[in-house]
Amino acid sequence: MRFLITLIFLSLLYSCGPSGHMKVEALTGENFSSSPGLSPFSIADFDNTIFPIFKEKCSQCHTGAGLPNWLDYDTVITSLKKIEDRLFVKQDMPMIGKLSEKEKSTIKDWIAAGAPKDASGEAKKPELKIPKKVYKSHGEKLAVTNCFNCHGKAGLDAFYPLLNGQTSDYLKLQLQAFKDGVRVDNLAGLMNGVAKALTDKEIDQVVSYLTSADPCQWGKATDPIKGDIASGKAKSSMCMGCHSDGNGMGAPKIEGQKALYIFESLSNFKSGKRDSAFMKGVAGPLTDAEIKNLASYFSSQSKCK
Ligand code: HEC
Ligand code: HEC
Ligand code: HEC
Repeated sequence: MRFLITLIFLSLLYSCGPSGHMKVEALTGENFSSSPGLSPFSIADFDNTIFPIFKEKCSQCHTGAGLPNWLDYDTVITSLKKIEDRLFVKQDMPMIGKLSEKEKSTIKDWIAAGAPKDASGEAKKPELKIPKKVYKSHGEKLAVTNCFNCHGKAGLDAFYPLLNGQTSDYLKLQLQAFKDGVRVDNLAGLMNGVAKALTDKEIDQVVSYLTSADPCQWGKATDPIKGDIASGKAKSSMCMGCHSDGNGMGAPKIEGQKALYIFESLSNFKSGKRDSAFMKGVAGPLTDAEIKNLASYFSSQSKCK
């Protein structure tokens, strides 16, 4: 939630700035694609100026497999207009507020100049030295290059639920719900965008990888919610009829899940923001304190060190 508020605040701040609109206008229009002659940018500029910015600020999410790979020259070159649009017109990319003014103007200059061309007018391609990783399956590749950028840390990135070792029925159901727009996440529809980019086959592949992936890969999640574990435990028996392993109820595993995620989920079921016939009845009567206690208790039940 705090993330979202910061995001909105920063985009408002930026769009209200006195010079923001002027600069964007100067960039659009004919000077965008029809730059006469050779671009002032050499190929090395991509390596030396744009690549490092995208590596630090975008590649957390944009590493291909679902989202465009901004570390790949060809992809960047064919998407210049889209990048301009999302970064400077709509200003809705999560990182926009975290780009420095210098980084913004470097990206703008690059976009305005277009792709560097050689004398025959062909776009030139730099030799990027990105080490190639080998993955055992497409599912693993999707998980490592895409999902784990957000879902990979047990620590404070507590909005992102841990997925490793979750049941496959549950993961498939949720991915489909995000894809169809039946479930909308709290963070600017991040998962809706991700899930829409996956084919049905890729959903099967990534889920099959995630269900067998080591749930302790990142150790224990930290608990930013300070609930009372003993009181949470006392209330937890009403949950286990559905949430214990292998009972065929289709409910997810919640032991060891991040506490903030459990807290947010229960609060959303309670308010009706997230729809579930089962959980609405359960969460409805819970007080905020009880929700905190349950979140801390279930999170503390991690089997990881
Ligand atoms: C926290 C994750 C995240 C970060 C960081 C991020 N993006 Fe995105 N981006 C997304 C998601 C998710 C989508 C797809 C959903 C959407 O369109 O909103 C997307 C879509 C886009 C698109 C539209 C792509 C298309 O094919 O239509 C562009 C352009 C883009 N991002 C540019 C950037 C740039 C440039 C950066 C770095 C300055 C960046 N993004 C940083 C998550 C991120
Ligand atoms: C840009 C960040 C981002 C990326 C990349 C991302 N996710 Fe998510 N994901 C989220 C957020 C945020 C939520 C929490 C949504 C909510 O609170 O409702 C989420 C929730 C989920 C859930 C629901 C889990 C639960 O316990 O209810 C599943 C399943 C999921 N993601 C699967 C994936 C898969 C598979 C991938 C890779 C193909 C992926 N995600 C990539 C941000 C991301
Ligand atoms: C009648 C069965 C049932 C009971 C009882 C129940 N749950 Fe659930 N719970 C579900 C189902 C089914 C889902 C999946 C909802 C969906 O499809 O989005 C769920 C989802 C959740 C989620 C979201 C997890 C995630 O990864 O997104 C949390 C957290 C949760 N339940 C906590 C609890 C707690 C705490 C209790 C006890 C106070 C409880 N549940 C009792 C059936 C139940």
